[in-house]
Amino acid sequence: MEHAAPGTASATVVAPALPAPIGLLAELTHRCPLKCPYCSNPLELERRAGELDTATWKRVLSEAAALGVLQVHLSGGEPTARRDIVEITRHCAETGLYSNLITSGVGLRPGLLEALSDAGLDHVQLSVQAADAAVADDIGGLAGAHATKLAFAEKVVALGLPLTLNAVIHRANIASIGDLVELALRMGAKRLEIAHVQYYGWAFANRAALMPGREAVVAAMAVVEDARVRLKGRLVIDAVLPDYYARYPKACVGGWGRRSINVSPTGKVLPCHAAETIPDLVFWSVREHALAEIWARSPAFEAFRGTGWMKEPCRTCERREIDFGGCRCQALAFAGDAAATDPACHRSPLHAQMVAIAEADARAEAPYRYRGYSSMPA
Ligand code: SF4
Ligand code: FES
Repeated sequence: MEHAAPGTASATVVAPALPAPIGLLAELTHRCPLKCPYCSNPLELERRAGELDTATWKRVLSEAAALGVLQVHLSGGEPTARRDIVEITRHCAETGLYSNLITSGVGLRPGLLEALSDAGLDHVQLSVQAADAAVADDIGGLAGAHATKLAFAEKVVALGLPLTLNAVIHRANIASIGDLVELALRMGAKRLEIAHVQYYGWAFANRAALMPGREAVVAAMAVVEDARVRLKGRLVIDAVLPDYYARYPKACVGGWGRRSINVSPTGKVLPCHAAETIPDLVFWSVREHALAEIWARSPAFEAFRGTGWMKEPCRTCERREIDFGGCRCQALAFAGDAAATDPACHRSPLHAQMVAIAEADARAEAPYRYRGYSSMPA
């Protein structure tokens, strides 16, 4: 392990020093106007009454800057549902943090985007559900949402803010990735994120409705590769392959407790957005602890940091410091053990079973199970 042991007094912290996190995901609220069936928020959403207040968020952001965080992702739910989003954004600018608004582009009050720009917002990341309006609105569970997003994107570009388009890919939209590339160009986006659904939390419950077939995935990746070459210099395209058909897992969140830190709407600090699906992890809260202390010593961050917690085959694998054993939440969801090798790895004893399930799910017909938090209280 590359950090002080829990309970070590700060004056005797051992070397080498723990690196600072690069990014902080500020989940300002779980309120959201959409109901995407792959939502990455926890199954149990936090209510508005439990959310951190403005002063606490500002303290957390100041602590993040002092800790060495460079980028803050203002996220949710829909972060613009917070009445104090402008004040929070301004605080990011004042503390030298690069701010990225991760938004659905739906439900913003008039003048809010302009106010955010004036407050120093650095970047906007807009989610789109599909290139086709009817498909997109069906996935998001809200009629008219796609048209609202198009108008929002136009405003973002007119204000001179850099725009990234984020599209979560699954069975209903994988065949039209080329259309998403064209949409990103038409919108004036500089970057397109093609992110295949990750199957934990709510998406795990919708796996049979969302899983694409292997041939569709291979074809989609070819489209992405072609677009990358063709559009070099005009559009950056980042793509995450679906794990279930991969040979090696992704280094989820860049490795547990290595690069990023999540703060939930109520102040719990998580190593990844789905960490609450792992039973028995103890999350410290910014209500009781300083962010630096949580990063260095909280039990949830300690649990899977480094390589000391690994079992075989990861423990002796030459890739253990490349992918860090994959995703802990996926290991839990699939293997029932968060310390197991991610079954997306072909060296996992469960890998063949995972592929078989993916192929069966890809052939299944299932309706979406939508999330429930569809209202956006004022
Ligand atoms: Fe990564 Fe573990 Fe697979 Fe090795 S065995 S490639 S460390 S997940
Ligand atoms: Fe939790 Fe991958 S989402 S470790």
